[in-house]
Amino acid sequence: MIYLDNSATTRIDDEVVDAMLPWLRERYGNASSIYHLGREARIAIEAARTEIAELLHAHPAEVIFTSGGTESNNAILKSCAGESALVDHVAYSAVEHHAVIHPAEALAAAGCTTTVIPVDAMGVVDPETCRPLNTPRTLVSVMHVNNETGAIQPLSAIRATVPDALLHTDAVQSFGKIPVDVQELGVDFATISAHKIHGPKGVGAMFIRRGIDLKAHQQGGGQERNRRAGTEPTALIVGFQVAARKAVATMHDRASHMRRLTERLARGLQERIPDLRFNTDPERSAPHIVNVSFLDAASLDGEAILQAMDMHGVAVSNGSACVSGSLQASHVLLAMGRGRDEARAAVRFSVCNETTTQNVDDAVAILSDVIRNMRV
Ligand SMILES: Cc1ncc(COP(=O)(O)O)c(C=O)c1O
Repeated sequence: MIYLDNSATTRIDDEVVDAMLPWLRERYGNASSIYHLGREARIAIEAARTEIAELLHAHPAEVIFTSGGTESNNAILKSCAGESALVDHVAYSAVEHHAVIHPAEALAAAGCTTTVIPVDAMGVVDPETCRPLNTPRTLVSVMHVNNETGAIQPLSAIRATVPDALLHTDAVQSFGKIPVDVQELGVDFATISAHKIHGPKGVGAMFIRRGIDLKAHQQGGGQERNRRAGTEPTALIVGFQVAARKAVATMHDRASHMRRLTERLARGLQERIPDLRFNTDPERSAPHIVNVSFLDAASLDGEAILQAMDMHGVAVSNGSACVSGSLQASHVLLAMGRGRDEARAAVRFSVCNETTTQNVDDAVAILSDVIRNMRV
Protein backbone atom coordinates (compact mmCIF):
# COMPACT_ATOMS: atom_id res chain seq x y z
CA MET A 1 0.00 0.00 0.00
CA ILE A 2 1.16 3.52 -0.75
CA TYR A 3 -0.02 5.63 2.17
CA LEU A 4 -0.42 9.27 1.17
CA ASP A 5 -3.00 10.32 3.75
CA ASN A 6 -0.77 11.53 6.56
CA SER A 7 -3.00 14.53 7.22
CA ALA A 8 -5.67 12.10 8.32
CA THR A 9 -3.31 10.19 10.58
CA THR A 10 0.22 8.81 10.66
CA ARG A 11 1.75 5.44 11.44
CA ILE A 12 2.84 5.35 15.07
CA ASP A 13 6.63 5.47 15.44
CA ASP A 14 8.24 2.29 16.87
CA GLU A 15 10.18 4.34 19.42
CA VAL A 16 6.90 5.88 20.56
CA VAL A 17 5.36 2.44 21.07
CA ASP A 18 8.44 1.27 23.00
CA ALA A 19 8.27 4.32 25.26
CA MET A 20 4.57 3.71 25.93
CA LEU A 21 4.64 -0.01 26.72
CA PRO A 22 6.02 0.15 30.30
CA TRP A 23 3.24 2.64 31.16
CA LEU A 24 0.66 0.14 29.96
CA ARG A 25 2.18 -3.01 31.42
CA GLU A 26 4.05 -2.42 34.68
CA ARG A 27 3.72 1.26 35.51
CA TYR A 28 -0.04 1.46 35.42
CA GLY A 29 -0.59 3.66 38.47
CA ASN A 30 -3.10 6.48 38.63
CA ALA A 31 -1.18 9.77 38.61
CA SER A 32 -3.45 11.10 41.37
CA SER A 33 -2.52 8.28 43.79
CA ILE A 34 -0.07 9.06 46.56
CA TYR A 35 1.87 5.77 46.63
CA HIS A 36 4.91 5.09 44.46
CA LEU A 37 3.07 3.62 41.45
CA GLY A 38 0.98 6.78 41.21
CA ARG A 39 3.81 9.18 41.89
CA GLU A 40 5.95 7.78 39.08
CA ALA A 41 3.07 8.31 36.66
CA ARG A 42 2.68 11.89 37.92
CA ILE A 43 6.41 12.51 37.41
CA ALA A 44 6.23 11.14 33.84
CA ILE A 45 3.21 13.28 32.99
CA GLU A 46 4.78 16.44 34.37
CA ALA A 47 8.01 15.74 32.48
CA ALA A 48 5.96 15.36 29.29
CA ARG A 49 4.12 18.59 30.02
CA THR A 50 7.40 20.45 30.58
CA GLU A 51 8.93 19.14 27.36
CA ILE A 52 5.86 19.81 25.20
CA ALA A 53 5.58 23.30 26.72
CA GLU A 54 9.21 23.97 25.77
CA LEU A 55 8.58 22.82 22.22
CA LEU A 56 5.71 25.33 21.99
CA HIS A 57 7.70 28.07 23.80
CA ALA A 58 5.08 27.99 26.55
CA HIS A 59 5.17 27.53 30.32
CA PRO A 60 4.25 24.04 31.63
CA ALA A 61 1.27 25.50 33.51
CA GLU A 62 -0.09 26.60 30.13
CA VAL A 63 -0.31 23.06 28.68
CA ILE A 64 -3.38 20.94 29.41
CA PHE A 65 -3.60 17.38 28.08
CA THR A 66 -6.80 16.36 26.32
CA SER A 67 -7.99 13.48 24.15
CA GLY A 68 -6.89 15.28 20.96
CA GLY A 69 -7.52 18.13 18.59
CA THR A 70 -11.29 17.81 18.58
CA GLU A 71 -11.60 18.04 22.34
CA SER A 72 -9.13 20.93 22.60
CA ASN A 73 -10.98 22.96 19.95
CA ASN A 74 -14.37 22.24 21.52
CA ALA A 75 -13.12 23.06 25.00
CA ILE A 76 -11.58 26.37 24.00
CA LEU A 77 -14.51 27.64 21.94
CA LYS A 78 -17.28 26.40 24.20
CA SER A 79 -15.63 27.41 27.45
CA CYS A 80 -14.62 30.87 26.20
CA ALA A 81 -18.16 31.66 25.03
CA GLY A 82 -19.95 29.50 27.62
CA GLU A 83 -18.86 28.63 31.18
CA SER A 84 -16.02 31.13 31.29
CA ALA A 85 -18.10 33.96 29.73
CA LEU A 86 -14.93 35.55 28.38
CA VAL A 87 -16.50 36.47 25.04
CA ASP A 88 -19.90 36.89 23.43
CA HIS A 89 -18.65 36.78 19.84
CA VAL A 90 -16.74 33.98 18.09
CA ALA A 91 -15.16 34.62 14.69
CA TYR A 92 -13.60 31.75 12.74
CA SER A 93 -12.23 31.29 9.26
CA ALA A 94 -14.36 29.60 6.64
CA VAL A 95 -11.70 26.90 6.18
CA GLU A 96 -11.47 25.70 9.80
CA HIS A 97 -11.68 22.01 10.61
CA HIS A 98 -15.17 20.85 11.59
CA ALA A 99 -13.85 20.54 15.17
CA VAL A 100 -13.97 24.36 15.20
CA ILE A 101 -16.89 25.02 12.83
CA HIS A 102 -19.36 22.68 14.51
CA PRO A 103 -18.84 23.93 18.09
CA ALA A 104 -19.03 27.49 16.74
CA GLU A 105 -22.33 26.63 15.04
CA ALA A 106 -23.59 25.08 18.27
CA LEU A 107 -22.68 28.30 20.09
CA ALA A 108 -24.53 30.32 17.44
CA ALA A 109 -27.61 28.13 17.91
CA ALA A 110 -27.40 28.90 21.64
CA GLY A 111 -27.43 32.65 20.96
CA CYS A 112 -23.74 33.57 20.65
CA THR A 113 -22.85 35.96 17.84
CA THR A 114 -20.57 34.35 15.26
CA THR A 115 -18.73 35.66 12.22
CA VAL A 116 -17.19 33.62 9.41
CA ILE A 117 -13.92 35.12 8.16
CA PRO A 118 -13.53 34.70 4.38
CA VAL A 119 -10.41 33.41 2.61
CA ASP A 120 -8.85 34.14 -0.79
CA ALA A 121 -8.69 31.75 -3.76
CA MET A 122 -5.81 29.85 -2.15
CA GLY A 123 -7.55 29.59 1.22
CA VAL A 124 -5.65 32.32 3.05
CA VAL A 125 -7.19 34.92 5.38
CA ASP A 126 -6.41 38.57 4.61
CA PRO A 127 -5.49 40.00 8.05
CA GLU A 128 -7.27 43.26 7.15
CA THR A 129 -10.62 41.45 7.13
CA CYS A 130 -10.03 40.69 10.84
CA ARG A 131 -9.59 44.33 11.90
CA PRO A 132 -13.33 44.89 12.62
CA LEU A 133 -13.20 41.89 14.98
CA ASN A 134 -10.89 43.66 17.39
CA THR A 135 -12.89 43.74 20.61
CA PRO A 136 -11.97 42.23 24.00
CA ARG A 137 -15.25 40.27 23.97
CA THR A 138 -14.36 38.44 20.72
CA LEU A 139 -12.58 35.11 20.24
CA VAL A 140 -10.90 34.85 16.82
CA SER A 141 -10.11 31.27 15.76
CA VAL A 142 -7.88 30.85 12.71
CA MET A 143 -6.03 27.61 12.08
CA HIS A 144 -2.27 27.63 11.55
CA VAL A 145 -2.15 25.13 8.65
CA ASN A 146 -5.17 23.89 6.75
CA ASN A 147 -5.64 20.11 6.77
CA GLU A 148 -6.98 19.95 3.19
CA THR A 149 -4.75 22.38 1.32
CA GLY A 150 -1.74 22.90 3.60
CA ALA A 151 -2.24 26.70 3.43
CA ILE A 152 -0.40 28.57 6.19
CA GLN A 153 -2.37 31.42 7.75
CA PRO A 154 -0.57 34.71 8.54
CA LEU A 155 -1.25 34.46 12.27
CA SER A 156 1.21 37.08 13.50
CA ALA A 157 -0.25 39.58 11.02
CA ILE A 158 -3.78 38.61 12.10
CA ARG A 159 -2.78 39.14 15.73
CA ALA A 160 -1.54 42.64 14.82
CA THR A 161 -5.01 43.52 13.50
CA VAL A 162 -6.85 42.15 16.58
CA PRO A 163 -4.63 43.07 19.54
CA ASP A 164 -7.57 43.27 21.97
CA ALA A 165 -9.37 40.06 20.97
CA LEU A 166 -8.63 36.56 22.24
CA LEU A 167 -6.88 34.53 19.53
CA HIS A 168 -6.99 30.75 19.11
CA THR A 169 -5.16 28.67 16.55
CA ASP A 170 -5.75 25.04 15.64
CA ALA A 171 -2.11 23.98 15.15
CA VAL A 172 -2.87 20.28 14.65
CA GLN A 173 -1.43 20.27 11.10
CA SER A 174 1.45 22.66 11.76
CA PHE A 175 2.97 21.27 14.96
CA GLY A 176 6.06 19.27 14.00
CA LYS A 177 5.88 20.41 10.36
CA ILE A 178 6.69 24.11 10.67
CA PRO A 179 7.77 26.08 13.76
CA VAL A 180 4.96 26.61 16.28
CA ASP A 181 6.03 29.27 18.77
CA VAL A 182 3.03 30.54 20.70
CA GLN A 183 4.90 33.71 21.66
CA GLU A 184 5.85 34.58 18.11
CA LEU A 185 2.36 33.75 16.81
CA GLY A 186 0.86 35.86 19.60
CA VAL A 187 -1.95 33.41 20.29
CA ASP A 188 -3.83 33.00 23.57
CA PHE A 189 -4.92 29.42 22.84
CA ALA A 190 -3.54 26.66 20.62
CA THR A 191 -4.55 23.10 19.83
CA ILE A 192 -2.21 20.20 19.03
CA SER A 193 -2.69 16.45 18.54
CA ALA A 194 -0.31 13.47 18.75
CA HIS A 195 -1.53 11.19 15.98
CA LYS A 196 -0.59 13.59 13.18
CA ILE A 197 3.08 13.38 14.20
CA HIS A 198 3.53 9.59 14.50
CA GLY A 199 2.19 9.58 18.06
CA PRO A 200 -0.78 7.65 19.48
CA LYS A 201 -4.41 8.46 18.74
CA GLY A 202 -6.55 9.81 21.55
CA VAL A 203 -4.20 12.37 23.06
CA GLY A 204 -3.49 16.02 22.39
CA ALA A 205 -3.12 19.25 24.27
CA MET A 206 -4.34 22.78 24.50
CA PHE A 207 -2.20 25.79 25.24
CA ILE A 208 -4.00 28.34 27.42
CA ARG A 209 -2.05 31.53 28.03
CA ARG A 210 -1.35 32.20 31.71
CA GLY A 211 -3.73 34.65 33.29
CA ILE A 212 -6.73 33.57 31.19
CA ASP A 213 -9.36 32.06 33.43
CA LEU A 214 -10.68 29.30 31.17
CA LYS A 215 -13.04 27.15 33.19
CA ALA A 216 -13.15 23.37 32.82
CA HIS A 217 -15.33 22.07 29.99
CA GLN A 218 -15.92 18.84 31.90
CA GLN A 219 -16.17 18.35 35.63
CA GLY A 220 -15.04 15.46 37.79
CA GLY A 221 -11.73 14.96 39.57
CA GLY A 222 -9.41 17.94 39.79
CA GLN A 223 -6.95 16.71 37.18
CA GLU A 224 -5.06 19.05 34.86
CA ARG A 225 -5.26 21.91 37.36
CA ASN A 226 -9.05 21.64 37.43
CA ARG A 227 -9.21 22.37 33.72
CA ARG A 228 -9.85 18.90 32.36
CA ALA A 229 -11.24 16.26 34.65
CA GLY A 230 -10.43 12.60 34.00
CA THR A 231 -7.60 10.20 34.86
CA GLU A 232 -4.62 11.12 32.72
CA PRO A 233 -3.64 8.42 30.18
CA THR A 234 0.05 8.19 31.14
CA ALA A 235 1.08 5.92 28.24
CA LEU A 236 -0.58 8.17 25.64
CA ILE A 237 0.97 11.29 27.15
CA VAL A 238 4.45 9.73 27.22
CA GLY A 239 3.95 8.59 23.61
CA PHE A 240 2.90 12.12 22.67
CA GLN A 241 6.03 13.50 24.36
CA VAL A 242 8.37 11.19 22.43
CA ALA A 243 6.60 11.83 19.11
CA ALA A 244 6.66 15.60 19.68
CA ARG A 245 10.32 15.59 20.70
CA LYS A 246 11.28 13.63 17.59
CA ALA A 247 9.10 15.66 15.24
CA VAL A 248 10.51 18.98 16.41
CA ALA A 249 14.14 17.78 16.68
CA THR A 250 14.07 16.42 13.11
CA MET A 251 11.67 19.04 11.71
CA HIS A 252 14.21 20.68 9.43
CA ASP A 253 15.26 17.44 7.73
CA ARG A 254 11.78 15.97 7.66
CA ALA A 255 10.34 19.18 6.19
CA SER A 256 12.97 19.33 3.42
CA HIS A 257 12.26 15.70 2.55
CA MET A 258 8.50 16.28 2.51
CA ARG A 259 8.86 19.48 0.49
CA ARG A 260 10.98 17.69 -2.11
CA LEU A 261 8.33 15.00 -2.37
CA THR A 262 5.36 17.36 -2.66
CA GLU A 263 7.20 19.43 -5.29
CA ARG A 264 7.99 16.28 -7.24
CA LEU A 265 4.38 15.16 -6.89
CA ALA A 266 3.05 18.49 -8.11
CA ARG A 267 5.47 18.52 -11.06
CA GLY A 268 4.54 14.96 -11.99
CA LEU A 269 0.81 15.68 -11.84
CA GLN A 270 1.19 18.82 -13.90
CA GLU A 271 3.16 16.98 -16.58
CA ARG A 272 0.80 14.03 -16.82
CA ILE A 273 -2.71 15.28 -16.14
CA PRO A 274 -4.29 18.03 -18.26
CA ASP A 275 -6.92 20.43 -16.88
CA LEU A 276 -5.69 20.20 -13.34
CA ARG A 277 -6.02 22.95 -10.76
CA PHE A 278 -3.68 23.22 -7.78
CA ASN A 279 -5.39 24.18 -4.57
CA THR A 280 -2.08 24.40 -2.72
CA ASP A 281 0.27 27.32 -3.16
CA PRO A 282 3.80 25.94 -2.59
CA GLU A 283 4.98 29.38 -1.45
CA ARG A 284 2.45 29.65 1.36
CA SER A 285 1.89 26.08 2.51
CA ALA A 286 3.21 23.47 4.91
CA PRO A 287 5.55 20.94 3.30
CA HIS A 288 3.39 17.82 3.55
CA ILE A 289 0.20 18.53 1.55
CA VAL A 290 -0.73 18.92 -2.13
CA ASN A 291 -4.37 19.31 -3.10
CA VAL A 292 -5.57 19.20 -6.72
CA SER A 293 -8.92 19.41 -8.43
CA PHE A 294 -10.04 19.01 -12.02
CA LEU A 295 -11.46 21.66 -14.32
CA ASP A 296 -13.85 19.12 -15.87
CA ALA A 297 -14.99 17.96 -12.42
CA ALA A 298 -18.65 17.86 -13.50
CA SER A 299 -17.86 14.75 -15.53
CA LEU A 300 -15.74 13.10 -12.83
CA ASP A 301 -16.93 11.26 -9.74
CA GLY A 302 -14.84 12.25 -6.69
CA GLU A 303 -15.65 9.11 -4.78
CA ALA A 304 -14.85 6.90 -7.76
CA ILE A 305 -11.43 8.54 -8.09
CA LEU A 306 -10.58 7.71 -4.46
CA GLN A 307 -11.96 4.19 -4.81
CA ALA A 308 -9.96 3.57 -8.01
CA MET A 309 -6.82 4.84 -6.28
CA ASP A 310 -7.53 2.47 -3.38
CA MET A 311 -7.97 -0.45 -5.78
CA HIS A 312 -4.48 0.31 -7.06
CA GLY A 313 -3.16 0.39 -3.49
CA VAL A 314 -2.93 4.15 -3.01
CA ALA A 315 -4.54 5.65 0.10
CA VAL A 316 -5.45 9.28 -0.57
CA SER A 317 -8.32 11.45 0.49
CA ASN A 318 -10.13 14.52 -0.63
CA GLY A 319 -10.13 15.87 2.89
CA SER A 320 -13.86 16.37 3.07
CA ALA A 321 -16.28 14.38 5.11
CA CYS A 322 -18.04 11.26 3.96
CA VAL A 323 -21.60 11.60 5.19
CA SER A 324 -24.05 8.66 4.86
CA GLY A 325 -21.71 6.93 2.44
CA SER A 326 -21.38 9.82 0.00
CA LEU A 327 -18.69 12.46 -0.33
CA GLN A 328 -19.71 16.00 0.52
CA ALA A 329 -18.27 18.94 -1.38
CA SER A 330 -15.30 20.24 0.60
CA HIS A 331 -16.29 23.35 2.59
CA VAL A 332 -12.66 24.45 2.31
CA LEU A 333 -12.62 24.41 -1.50
CA LEU A 334 -16.10 25.99 -1.64
CA ALA A 335 -14.81 28.82 0.59
CA MET A 336 -11.94 29.25 -1.87
CA GLY A 337 -14.48 29.84 -4.63
CA ARG A 338 -14.36 26.45 -6.35
CA GLY A 339 -17.60 25.11 -7.80
CA ARG A 340 -19.50 22.31 -6.09
CA ASP A 341 -18.35 19.63 -8.56
CA GLU A 342 -14.75 20.70 -8.27
CA ALA A 343 -15.00 20.75 -4.48
CA ARG A 344 -16.31 17.18 -4.56
CA ALA A 345 -13.70 15.72 -6.93
CA ALA A 346 -10.48 16.94 -5.35
CA VAL A 347 -7.55 14.76 -4.32
CA ARG A 348 -5.41 15.54 -1.29
CA PHE A 349 -1.99 13.91 -1.07
CA SER A 350 -0.23 14.16 2.27
CA VAL A 351 3.24 12.73 2.77
CA CYS A 352 5.41 12.09 5.82
CA ASN A 353 9.08 11.51 6.52
CA GLU A 354 8.62 7.81 5.70
CA THR A 355 7.22 8.47 2.19
CA THR A 356 9.61 7.65 -0.66
CA THR A 357 10.20 9.13 -4.10
CA GLN A 358 8.99 5.84 -5.56
CA ASN A 359 5.71 6.16 -3.61
CA VAL A 360 5.16 9.59 -5.10
CA ASP A 361 6.06 8.56 -8.67
CA ASP A 362 3.78 5.53 -8.46
CA ALA A 363 0.89 7.62 -7.13
CA VAL A 364 1.28 10.14 -9.97
CA ALA A 365 1.28 7.37 -12.58
CA ILE A 366 -1.78 5.71 -11.03
CA LEU A 367 -3.79 8.93 -10.71
CA SER A 368 -3.02 9.88 -14.29
CA ASP A 369 -4.23 6.45 -15.48
CA VAL A 370 -7.36 6.69 -13.32
CA ILE A 371 -8.26 10.14 -14.64
CA ARG A 372 -7.46 9.21 -18.26
CA ASN A 373 -9.77 6.19 -18.00
CA MET A 374 -12.55 8.27 -16.49
CA ARG A 375 -12.26 10.93 -19.15
CA VAL A 376 -12.76 8.63 -22.16
C1 LIG B 1 -6.76 20.83 11.51
C2 LIG B 1 -7.30 19.75 12.38
N1 LIG B 1 -7.92 20.07 13.52
C3 LIG B 1 -8.42 19.13 14.34
C4 LIG B 1 -8.34 17.80 14.03
C5 LIG B 1 -8.92 16.79 14.97
O1 LIG B 1 -7.88 16.23 15.77
P1 LIG B 1 -8.11 14.85 16.52
O2 LIG B 1 -8.19 13.79 15.47
O3 LIG B 1 -6.89 14.71 17.40
O4 LIG B 1 -9.35 14.97 17.31
C6 LIG B 1 -7.71 17.42 12.84
C7 LIG B 1 -7.64 15.99 12.46
O5 LIG B 1 -8.35 15.51 11.62
C8 LIG B 1 -7.18 18.41 11.99
O6 LIG B 1 -6.58 18.10 10.84
